[in-house]
Amino acid sequence: MGYKIAVIPGDGIGPEVMAEGVKVLRAAAAKSDFAVDLVEYDLGGDRYLKTGEVLPDSVMEELKGVDAIYLGAVGHPDVKPGILEKGLLLRLRFELDQYINLRPVKLYPGVDCPLKDKKPGDIDFVVVRENTEGLYLGLGGFMKKGTADEVAVQEMLNTRKGVERCIKYAFEYAKKRNKGNMLTLVAKTNVLTYAHDLWERSFYEVAKEYPGIKPDYAHVDATCMWMVKNPEYFDVIVTCNMFGDIITDLGAEIQGGLGVAAGGNINPEGVSMFEPIHGSAPKYTGKNVANPLATICAGGMMLEVLGEEEAATAVEEAVKSVLLTKVHNLSAGKMGFSTSEVGDMVVDALDRQ
Ligand code: NAD
Ligand code: IPM
Ligand code: MN
Repeated sequence: MGYKIAVIPGDGIGPEVMAEGVKVLRAAAAKSDFAVDLVEYDLGGDRYLKTGEVLPDSVMEELKGVDAIYLGAVGHPDVKPGILEKGLLLRLRFELDQYINLRPVKLYPGVDCPLKDKKPGDIDFVVVRENTEGLYLGLGGFMKKGTADEVAVQEMLNTRKGVERCIKYAFEYAKKRNKGNMLTLVAKTNVLTYAHDLWERSFYEVAKEYPGIKPDYAHVDATCMWMVKNPEYFDVIVTCNMFGDIITDLGAEIQGGLGVAAGGNINPEGVSMFEPIHGSAPKYTGKNVANPLATICAGGMMLEVLGEEEAATAVEEAVKSVLLTKVHNLSAGKMGFSTSEVGDMVVDALDRQ
């Protein structure tokens, strides 16, 4: 059994962290005895600056035929913000209908946590972020641009079907996880009285199909407070695209930093894409100091979704052992090891299992 995986290293630190992700992926596949056929795509800022191409239609078509996509990061200091983010990353998420962005927030033993008195078991929840709608569609426009009377409108689109499929996925996920058996809807029903009214109604309706899961609600501002004060409260969170983006950077910090936070853009019926939740961190590019563990963990999530549970667990255990015994500070330049050394240590830990 083999998997065809498209690899998009992308911009900034993307290629450096992806080199380590690929190293670990190959080692995990060899250990569990399955084949991976990796096809690399040079999409990103450099190609755009050279050729004007962001994501050619022919490449988009090829990507529809792979088993999974493994992405480093996009965003280039010489390219206007939005061109690559929307033209590459968001286009992939939307056209492949990856309607779930799954982002676990888990503090592993051995990792420095910025929250006083919080231990590994206290920080262990999962954010299910809607990934194809909300404020991300680019709907809106300008009127009288550049004048004193300028108007800028950015619309937030929520469809009943889009919201409901995300909420259903989150309930199923909470049920399968079987940990706290609670799903918290994070929204802003007190202000977004149309959009999040739809979310709330849909949430409590779907909840009736899951009597074993406690439906819970928190406003997004209070959620930020609870994530710092009482992160142990949360089990699974479901939220809209924009709030999910914001709270998962906070989630990353409480689990030790962006260097370890992984995510999956999932289409349960189609092609999914796995990536660290951080971006291209331009200031660390080419220095061999970025933390590759987020990318490595995203590779582990990819293996799990592909059905290679044994290999996925092996990767997670290898990462855990490196965190427990060697790398405690996860920030760029403060790990005590280079990017490639951290990748090598994970491979070593895999081999020794
Ligand atoms: P960023 O995530 O790239 O970096 C913010 C900070 O997080 C860094 O300065 C660094 O301190 C830390 N960090 C990030 N990755 C790390 C790693 N692997 N190891 C250790 N520390 C790490 O966010 P930004 O600076 O706001 O954005 C830079 C560019 O990346 C922008 O162009 C943005 O649009 C893009 N971006 C892309 C993605 C993505 O590809 N999914 C995600 C976020 C941002
Ligand atoms: C992320 C990023 C993206 C997002 C950007 C780069 C479009 O911040 O993956 O979290 O907002 O989803
Ligand atoms: Mn983000």
